[in-house]
Amino acid sequence: MTRTFSIIKPDATRRNLTGAVNAVIEATGLRIVAQKRVILSKAQAEQFYGAHKERSFFNELIAQMTAAPVVVQVLEGTDAVKSYRAIMGDTNPEQAPVGTIRKLFALSIGENSVHGSDSDENAAIEIAQFFTDAEIVG
Ligand code: CMP
Repeated sequence: MTRTFSIIKPDATRRNLTGAVNAVIEATGLRIVAQKRVILSKAQAEQFYGAHKERSFFNELIAQMTAAPVVVQVLEGTDAVKSYRAIMGDTNPEQAPVGTIRKLFALSIGENSVHGSDSDENAAIEIAQFFTDAEIVG
């Protein structure tokens, strides 16, 4: 069992899709072991996406991620990082396979409904930004 970090993004919470996204997550066998709905501050979003600071879309990304509530989550399961990335689909929803969260729900490459960690190492860093150990209940 491993863990990954997930964000249900503003484009999805705005359209009342939290439950629909969670249904896809749970159907894959991943367990939601921590979850909270928050509004990210600009500082939190900039820290979280620090790796993309130099990218042309950075300011737009920060504006989108702070514009409405997000749901931050810890998911647990077999090879959780890889399993969640598979069910999320490609960053660009046009390239995402049928049945994936982004194919089902994403609006665009920027407003792509969900984030998932890209490695076990980043999962641990991202989880620690939002949850204490005591808040994660498997
Ligand atoms: P995420 O998986 O959260 O990681 C970085 C985010 O930046 C990505 O999802 C998208 O929301 C956004 N992003 C990546 N590439 C682009 C792009 N070309 N244009 C706009 N936003 C992007």
